[in-house]
Amino acid sequence: MMKTIVLKVNPQHPDPASIARAAAIIRRGGLVAFPTETVYGLGADALNAQAVLGIFHAKERPAHDPLIVHIADPEQLREIAVQIPDVAWTLAQEFWPGPLTLVLYKAPQVPSEVTAGGNTVAVRLPAHPVARALIRQAGTPIAAPSANRFGHVSPTRAEHVLRDLGGRIDLILDGGSTPVGVESTVLSLISSPPVILRPGGVSREALAHCLGPVVLRSEITARNQPALSPGMTLKHYAPSATLRLYAGERATALRAMHRVAEQYLRAGHQVGLLLVDEDVPAFRDLPAVVQNLGSVTDMATVAHRLFAGLRALDEAGVTVILTRDLGTEGLALAIRDRLTRAAAGQVILVDEKTQGDSRR
Ligand code: TXA
Ligand code: MG
Repeated sequence: MMKTIVLKVNPQHPDPASIARAAAIIRRGGLVAFPTETVYGLGADALNAQAVLGIFHAKERPAHDPLIVHIADPEQLREIAVQIPDVAWTLAQEFWPGPLTLVLYKAPQVPSEVTAGGNTVAVRLPAHPVARALIRQAGTPIAAPSANRFGHVSPTRAEHVLRDLGGRIDLILDGGSTPVGVESTVLSLISSPPVILRPGGVSREALAHCLGPVVLRSEITARNQPALSPGMTLKHYAPSATLRLYAGERATALRAMHRVAEQYLRAGHQVGLLLVDEDVPAFRDLPAVVQNLGSVTDMATVAHRLFAGLRALDEAGVTVILTRDLGTEGLALAIRDRLTRAAAGQVILVDEKTQGDSRR
């Protein structure tokens, strides 16, 4: 067990001495967790295979799950990827720095440990000043997955990282809570037209504005509503409590949630509710633990609070978390994706006709 150092940094203007200390750790093959605009990443020198293996070890991440390479300058893309199509530069121009990850063919110098043995690589240029300063100062691209134990909820605060990875990594740069709160959108440019592999911080609508209609992988694999098919996703981004996601008409969903909450409470369970402001009054009569996500009219705030809310409910010791689907517009699509995975099979589609939960 190593000692994990936590260094507080100003998120807008990080202290150069702290960045230098973190960069030195990266250069000698160590592991540094750092804030990005999406979630905290667990970074290592992307060109050092041994260092990259350390990431998999610390996270207990299976070796077949490839990592995102973070760069500080668009030109650095040429060190990481080959056969870069024009559309990649168009997207970089439009969305970098920012929460868009592009999947391209990998350059030979990228170790196969980063790409899980594949011939493609995921690359992004983060917008967070701490992330950019660290990559620049390290003088090397940084491979970084989210800084959580594998399968757990991604960390949006340094405390989350410490809880999951304390004693396993060298340093955490604590830049406060991460602004976006859900991970980057992963877009594959290997296929033409491009495919969204994971919805995230850059909306489908924003991509479509630049590219024309963009398809989601889930729409190709399952002829179904986008990412609402519980069977195809393994449990991921998950809290310890059981999560039940209610989708469908709002009033019906709220009634079904209320009924189930009552049943759990009667059976002596602690019940957690992850709710938008507008839904809170429907549960006023119940002694449940409520995490407030903000207004349904402000998805940026809902996304920002989502993962911290799930972790807080876990810490409160609830055995079940009930939450409601918020649709697919803008950031809501990424929120649905994360909650669907966290729910792993516990997606309840309500509709007026069946008057209740038709579990599927
Ligand atoms: O916002 C984010 O993307 C954060 C911050 C730290 O940058 N990172 C992150 O990394 O979420 P991670 O490892 O938790 O998720 C990366 C996703 C995984 O679903 C992985 O399978 C996919 O990107 N990915 C990575 N390389 C890929 C590749 N070559 N082809 C297809 N998918 C890839
Ligand atoms: Mg992750």
